[in-house]
Amino acid sequence: MNTNTLRAQAERARPGPSARYSRVAILLHWAIAAGILCNVALALAVDALPDAWVRPVIDTHKSIGITVLGLVLMRILWRASHRPPPLPLAFPRAERVAAHVAHGLLYAIMLGLPLSGWFHDSAWKDAGTHPMTLFHLVPWPRVGFIMHLEPQFKEHMHDVLGAIHTWFGYALYLVLALHVGGALKHELIDRHSVLRRMWP
Ligand code: HEM
Ligand code: HEM
Repeated sequence: MNTNTLRAQAERARPGPSARYSRVAILLHWAIAAGILCNVALALAVDALPDAWVRPVIDTHKSIGITVLGLVLMRILWRASHRPPPLPLAFPRAERVAAHVAHGLLYAIMLGLPLSGWFHDSAWKDAGTHPMTLFHLVPWPRVGFIMHLEPQFKEHMHDVLGAIHTWFGYALYLVLALHVGGALKHELIDRHSVLRRMWP
């Protein structure tokens, strides 16, 4: 009998969280999740809001998005230098592989969403006359080479980058549903919590 099988048997005999993520990982996970969910809510609500609210709401969306970008970069650095606790061996191999694939995709989406938003906004024809400030406090640059594209091509790129931003949003809804669904399955059906590994 190999070591993995013995560990899996021990885990089944004493179910529960095998290990927890560190405090830094937990803080970053929930701060980023809150920022992303807030931004989705703001972006989806914007069409239903009175005209006077649109500009401040979009500005807040941009500020939260850039903050999320900074937190994601910190998280990637943290992740590259720390090993996360391994998933319980009691889970079927296919579920462990699916969880790793979903985590990899979530990292790509967490980076892709704010970057595509920032590039899209840099191609906005009025970007030059509407400088960006994070939460009205810190000036934030647009991407220079996108801002200085030839106007007609820039308008085209504004549409393309906007569509890419939207599609990253659709990818988020899909992968997040799998991610949360997986966590809830382990919690409620398998009764082998992974949520406690990530709970503050
Ligand atoms: C946490 C990161 C972000 C998330 C989750 C996010 C999500 C979204 C979503 C879901 C939409 C609606 C797309 C649609 O239905 O067509 C949207 C629109 C938009 N986003 Fe983001 N975004 C993020 C970051 C950013 C950043 C960093 C910027 C710019 C600096 C930005 C600028 C915009 C703009 C200008 C729109 C179009 C709003 C409109 O006119 O309706 N986003 N975003
Ligand atoms: C936009 C929202 C979210 C994003 C982008 C996200 C992303 C991630 C990523 C990338 C990991 C892997 C961490 C690593 O090993 O490096 C992770 C772990 C985890 N997430 Fe989320 N997450 C989000 C929301 C949620 C929500 C709402 C829940 C609640 C059900 C949740 C529960 C968990 C749990 C339990 C783990 C640990 C899984 C394990 O034990 O290996 N996440 N999340």
